[in-house]
Amino acid sequence: MNDAAKEEIRERLAIEDVIGQYIDLKRAGRNLKGHSPWGTDRTPSFMVSPEKGIWHDFSSNKGGDIFTFVMEMEGITFREALEKLAQQAGVELKKYSGSDKAFAARKQRLYEVLELATKYFQTCLVRNKEVCKYVFYQRHLNRKTVETFRIGYAPMSGNALTNFLKKRGFTAQELEEAGLVNQYGGDLFRGRMTIPLMDQGGRVIGFTGRIIDSSIKDTPKYLNTPETILYNKGRHIFGLSQAREAIRRSEFVVVVEGNMDVISSHQAGVQEAVATAGTAMTENHLKAFSRMTNDIRLAYDGDEAGVRAAERAISMASKFGIYLSVIDDYHGCKDADELIQKDPKLWQEAVQNYRPALEWILEKYEDKYDLDTEKGFQEYTKEAKRLIDEIDENDTVLREKYERMVSKRLGISLEAFRAKKVKKDVKRLKKAPGATMGATTEVSRAEKNLAALVLCGKVDVPESFIYKGFNKDELALVFDEQYGTWSASEQQREAESLRQKIEAERLAAKRKELEDKIRLAEENHDEELENQLLAEMNELIKQK
Ligand code: UTP
Ligand code: MN
Repeated sequence: MNDAAKEEIRERLAIEDVIGQYIDLKRAGRNLKGHSPWGTDRTPSFMVSPEKGIWHDFSSNKGGDIFTFVMEMEGITFREALEKLAQQAGVELKKYSGSDKAFAARKQRLYEVLELATKYFQTCLVRNKEVCKYVFYQRHLNRKTVETFRIGYAPMSGNALTNFLKKRGFTAQELEEAGLVNQYGGDLFRGRMTIPLMDQGGRVIGFTGRIIDSSIKDTPKYLNTPETILYNKGRHIFGLSQAREAIRRSEFVVVVEGNMDVISSHQAGVQEAVATAGTAMTENHLKAFSRMTNDIRLAYDGDEAGVRAAERAISMASKFGIYLSVIDDYHGCKDADELIQKDPKLWQEAVQNYRPALEWILEKYEDKYDLDTEKGFQEYTKEAKRLIDEIDENDTVLREKYERMVSKRLGISLEAFRAKKVKKDVKRLKKAPGATMGATTEVSRAEKNLAALVLCGKVDVPESFIYKGFNKDELALVFDEQYGTWSASEQQREAESLRQKIEAERLAAKRKELEDKIRLAEENHDEELENQLLAEMNELIKQK
């Protein structure tokens, strides 16, 4: 759709300049090299080919052009990357497509229908005594809060909202695009307290709805608008439009877990509170915060998920120069909202009673592992080392502070702790949101290298081992970088070892699939199927 614009931008911008804004690049022959922004490579593993206009990251196995790079780096959509680069290139996107206008008009209609839905829900709230009781007496929200956050009620009847909006001239398709209907075209939200999700300017872009009658089972407590062209879960920050002023003024932000925690917090006078969807804080979120303040206070649960979320945030925070801390003084309450119900003062104190996130996590590790046992000692050392390794290497002072703290705790020398080598926790990295965002898919490194050898080298491999879905330019780059100077016989030997690796990978995948099927058959007491699958498994094992 935007091919002409894309070409024009590509012509005007040098790929090394675009990428050079994020990564230090050094010339290496025809290509440029730098450190991977996603991996933790010791030697530069990120390559740029100015000739071909593409990049490839050997440590994460990602690659593409300037658009995919900016998408990956910023965690934004293609459209946003296009807009950003168009601006840098001085290209006016409007000129390139009449459809942009149509898109803007479509978005405008969605804002309008969501605004109308908000008003409709607000009216339904004041008309329903039972719901008012819930909102004002059970959740203890006051009128001002309900108005500021535009809280409403979605009635129980199947399509009250849908009918209302259709009468006002909105089409079924528009309602669907706004995320207001279920799969049958009826109201998505039924019998729920509604809380609008707003963009930074306070425009409604979606809703979350909380069930009011808790006796209704088989339905989630909260239901959210699906992702739409207006609402992007990984970027959205709940409460930001209401919190912005306070964050700027006080120069800190409090990140809580639930939307109701945000609302209660504002009512309790802590207007610096916002929430991301659950504890899934992405790089996008952190960046958005860091534009307002570098004092970010996480008010997460002390449970496993909360610790994991804080761990993930630490490595990102260090990169952006953020001072990350944790609020954990809940006086035995489950969340901020509960604490506020107990006494708003306690919450006001809690947000001033913050502790460095690193210190907090290290303490959680200490609780988890028994340092008096060999195993606990080892595990703790490993986790602590891994965590401290996340601190930006230029921040030598902070590093040393924690290295000293931990080695003292362990009763070992600073040098011994420093010298300890730990492997990256690959599983954890993979789970980190943001690390998986973007358009490129992950394929096995062996598959890619072998395809590169076949395309550009002189090797002979059975057809079935060559995956055809790779971009040829990218393969050429992989080849140049890794095998460019290898002799034909070295290449053939490498190809053979890659082929074996792929074979093993495919076998392992098959085995895993079979195992899952067997487990399912077992659960369903389908003995016949189970026996058949077990026989298949036997064959598979024999092959090895
Ligand atoms: P909680 O279960 O802790 O809810 O989920 P809460 O915020 O304390 O809600 P109340 O006080 O019972 O009303 C934390 C967050 O996880 C998301 C919501 O964003 C919620 O605020 N969540 C939870 C869902 O999206 N769906 C659910 O079914 C439950
Ligand atoms: Mn709660």
